[in-house]
Amino acid sequence: MNKTQLPSFRNLYAFGKKLPIDLSLSENPLGCSPKVSRVLEQLTQADFFDYPDPDCNQLKKAIAKRFQIKVECIFVANGSEAIIKLLPQVLLKPGDKVIIPKLTFPMFDVASKMSRGKVISSEMTPNFDIDLDDVKSKIDKNTKLIFLCNPNNPTGRVISKKKIVDFVQSTKAIVVVDEANIEFGGKTVIREVNRLKNLIVLRTFSKAFGLAGFRIGFCVASKEIIQLLEQASQPFPVSTIAEKVALMAFKDTKFIKKTREFMNGERNFLSRELEKRSFKVIKSQANNLLVKVSSPSSKFIDKLNEKGVSVVNGSFFNLEKASFIRVSPRLRKTNKKFIEVIDKILAK
Ligand SMILES: Cc1ncc(COP(=O)(O)O)c(C=O)c1O
Repeated sequence: MNKTQLPSFRNLYAFGKKLPIDLSLSENPLGCSPKVSRVLEQLTQADFFDYPDPDCNQLKKAIAKRFQIKVECIFVANGSEAIIKLLPQVLLKPGDKVIIPKLTFPMFDVASKMSRGKVISSEMTPNFDIDLDDVKSKIDKNTKLIFLCNPNNPTGRVISKKKIVDFVQSTKAIVVVDEANIEFGGKTVIREVNRLKNLIVLRTFSKAFGLAGFRIGFCVASKEIIQLLEQASQPFPVSTIAEKVALMAFKDTKFIKKTREFMNGERNFLSRELEKRSFKVIKSQANNLLVKVSSPSSKFIDKLNEKGVSVVNGSFFNLEKASFIRVSPRLRKTNKKFIEVIDKILAK
């Protein structure tokens, strides 16, 4: 394998250019909890000089209390992406099979391939849902890991808690449920780690909590899996400041409620306006909208870019034939500008 064939995160959509009317990455348009500023104002010199707590104990205790799980079942890292990279590293042997839905967050595929996993794609249903029956049909004795994203990125489609729990119970493979966007829709399965030893749940402070710049996320799993992650992790994965702001943001449940209501409103606004203009919009329950555009999507995106709009090309999600874009709702004034640009393109 030469260097250019090696799997790399550099080809992910996260590196796209942001233009003035930006609907590309799914950051929180409301920012973060206003209480985070208070934490920053109260920092002391020691927060800068001293090494951080390698175990993030304060934050872990708060997470454990909220979800009624054990502290030993939590691993905190510098962004959930760090955990997505680490999991195949600690769980796979070269050639082990990993099942990943065809249409989902592309990092699962790259991280699995980096650890020499053999990736098997499962089909989506005609409604663009993850097809758990198809995933099941592809499991064999060499299947070590299965990635599910709930709500799924880029569709915003949700799998019910019952379906996920039944699915995890039906297999011996380790099932990773990425709940990066769960605050926007769907029900968490975090507490199920108390009884399901093959379940790993990933969470992030980057989305609803609005702390993407701080790089902090966590996962919840059996004590044994957490130990494997700790052994392979760097000694001080999270800065003191990131832990402090995450703790404050985690406690501010009012802000999360406000964020969810805001996102519901903007997602409905954009869906309605796009559908009025005859676009097919995949029905989303979260903070991303997958929209079918005229083919090829790269040409449509060129037109959007010319008018100062950035979105994500569906080709990043294996959607090159069908021509889709992924849109992340913003503040109403930005969403309106986006629709105005769409009208200008349609008028031509
Ligand atoms: C589904 C999903 N998982 C994980 C991540 C990574 O998030 P973090 O900022 O915690 O690394 C993202 C970011 O876009 C995501 O969409």
